[in-house]
Amino acid sequence: MYRTLQSHFAFFSQVRTQFATTGAIAPSSRFLAAAMTRFLAVRNTQIPVRILEIGPGTAPVTNRILQLLSPDDQLHLVELNPDFVKLIQTRFHSEANWAKAHHQTTIHQLSLQQFQSEEPFDFIISSLPLNNFSATVVDELVHAYFNLLRDGGTLSYFEYMYVRPIRKGLTRGAEQQRITHIEHRLAEQYRATGVQRDNVWLNLPPAWVQHHRKSEVTAQELKTNKVLVNA
Ligand SMILES: C[S@@+](CC[C@H](N)C(=O)[O-])C[C@H]1O[C@@H](n2cnc3c(N)ncnc32)[C@H](O)[C@@H]1O
Repeated sequence: MYRTLQSHFAFFSQVRTQFATTGAIAPSSRFLAAAMTRFLAVRNTQIPVRILEIGPGTAPVTNRILQLLSPDDQLHLVELNPDFVKLIQTRFHSEANWAKAHHQTTIHQLSLQQFQSEEPFDFIISSLPLNNFSATVVDELVHAYFNLLRDGGTLSYFEYMYVRPIRKGLTRGAEQQRITHIEHRLAEQYRATGVQRDNVWLNLPPAWVQHHRKSEVTAQELKTNKVLVNA
C-alpha cells in the first residue's frame, strides 16, 4: 500500500512538469500490466528470452515482467526521465523480489531513439504515449520497435481508448493532421503485423493493448527500407 502511494506520488509530480513525455494521468493498473505481458506469460520458460521494456515510469509493468522472468532471461529498461530511473534503481536495491532479478536487468537512461542494441529482442513492451508525439517522432519510434524486434518476436504497447477520435473531433489544422497521420500509421502497422487487441476497462483511463508479431516478410522489408518508415 505504502509502495503504491509512493509510486503514485512520484508519477503525479512528473505529470505536472513532464506531461508531453509522461502522457498519462495515473500509473498503469495491474490489469493493464497483465495484458501488456500476456504473450510473455505464455512463452516456453525453458528457452531464455531477451525483453525490452520502453518507458517503465514508476514501473507497474516492470513489476509484472519481473514476476514472469526466468533465471536466464535478460531484461533491458529504456527510460528517458532521470527521476523515474532513480526510482527504479531504488526499487532494485530495496525490494527483495526486485533485488533477485537485478543481475539480469540493465537500465538505460536515454530515449528509445538513442538506444541501440547488438542483439534483437524477443519481447518489446512499450508504454510510450505515441499520441503526444509529432508524426515524425511516431514514425521513428515505430521503426525503432521493429528494428529492435527479433523475427518472430512480439511487440505489445498500449494507448488510451478513443483518444485519437476525440482529439480529431476537437482540433483543426496542423494538430488534426498530426493525429490523422498517427492514426493511419498505426492502423497500417496493425494490418501488417497485428495479432491481437485487448480491451482493458479496469485502468484509468481504459486502454487498448495492441500486440504485433514481426514476421520474416516484415524483417525483409525493414532491411530494404521499403515499408514501415513513412505512411
Ligand atoms: C505513459 S508513461 C508510462 C509509465 C508506466 N510504464 C506505466 O504504465 O504506468 C510513459 C513513459 O515513457 C517515458 N518516455 C517518454 N518518451 C520516451 C522516449 N522517447 N524514450 C524512452 N522513454 C520515454 C516517460 O518518461 C514515461 O515514463
